[in-house]
Amino acid sequence: MQNFIVNNPTRLVFGKNVCEQIPEHLKDFGSRVLMVYGKGSIKNNGIYSEVKKQLVKSGKTIFEFEGIKPNPIVDDVEKAISYGIKNNVEFVVAVGGGSVIDSSKIISLSTPENLNPWDVMKYKVKPTKALPLITVLTLAATGTEMNQFAVLQNTTTNEKTGFGSPLIYPKVSFCDPSFTVSVNKDYTGYGIADIIAHSLEAYFGGCDSTLSDRFVVSIIRELAQVGPELLNNLSDYTLRAKAMWASTCALNGLTFYGRNSGDWGVHDIGHVISLLYDTPHGASLSIAYPAWLKHNSTNLQKEILWLGKEVFNVETVDKTINEFEKLFSKLNCPIKLSHIDITNKKEISDLLIKNKASGMVVKLNNDDLVKIVDLM
Ligand code: NZQ
Ligand code: ZN
Repeated sequence: MQNFIVNNPTRLVFGKNVCEQIPEHLKDFGSRVLMVYGKGSIKNNGIYSEVKKQLVKSGKTIFEFEGIKPNPIVDDVEKAISYGIKNNVEFVVAVGGGSVIDSSKIISLSTPENLNPWDVMKYKVKPTKALPLITVLTLAATGTEMNQFAVLQNTTTNEKTGFGSPLIYPKVSFCDPSFTVSVNKDYTGYGIADIIAHSLEAYFGGCDSTLSDRFVVSIIRELAQVGPELLNNLSDYTLRAKAMWASTCALNGLTFYGRNSGDWGVHDIGHVISLLYDTPHGASLSIAYPAWLKHNSTNLQKEILWLGKEVFNVETVDKTINEFEKLFSKLNCPIKLSHIDITNKKEISDLLIKNKASGMVVKLNNDDLVKIVDLM
């Protein structure tokens, strides 16, 4: 087991109608707020008016930045930073899923010192402070509501990359599962596939941290049951709540303590698929994970066998991988590139090689990358 520090400063406010508590949690963060959101779903499902009502009740002056896209791009983040600086905003409220929250993390980090957000993402500059960030989560998937990570795309350099800093933990995250009831069937499934993928990235992060391994198993078992039920009952509050809590627990540190890191090789591969075809994040992972497991079935035999036994009660590597494929399929997710009409495998392996995709524990060379893409 590796040494570790537990210091997750995010205050998570979870449950039905928690947004009514916004005023009491926002007292310390100034009066001028930048409210960031996506392409409009919050205006159709009532979340926009609810959050705005609470911000007005809190006596805040609201400046809005609308239009963050799924697989968010750094250009939008740059525009939001300029807009925030022009209006002297003192804190940021992100209302959305991972794309909106991740963008808001980099907005809050780049605004105080007017930094170039891509330089921040690439660790070329070191921010010393951030505006406080509050999130209102609307989609269960990434865990960004309680972690220090953000992922952005740069369409000029052709990269999708992750960044981490303790400065971007949200100060408060409001997680009302009823806010996720309007997420459609596809994105609900992709979200659950993403949560499973985070659990697996932790598990394949190595080190003897058996309690963390058991947290991983618990999260995947929970989702193997809750996920398919939820896809047939999209408006069920309890199932939405279970999925939302699982998303937070899968990437808020719990499954990582005692390890060096996660592996994150499959995320690296998924990011290249999203970059090329704007594939939703969870769908890129449900395609990449089975292929990665098949490619590593010999060197990770022991780990895959244990997982198969604990999660699905099966006894072989092949059966374990097959169970994951069945689970992703039950979640309405693609497990092959052909399922989302992608045929140009060379284009993917070329960019994987160019962007040096690899895991942190299971290192992938060029030959590995080509073979994994062949299996997709
Ligand atoms: O554009 P809007 O209107 O927000 O619509 C979104 C979008 O079309 C919609 N949606 C969100 N909440 C909804 C809703 N539709 C109806 N009702 C609601 N309540 O769903 C679509 C997808 O939203 P998005 O935010 O892109 O999804 P997700 O939460 O899966 O975020 C994905 C992004 O997070 C990154 C991914 O790479 C991807 O860019 N990740 C972030 C991580 C982190 N910060 O820790 C880790 C993850 O591994 C991941 O890489
Ligand atoms: Zn993910």
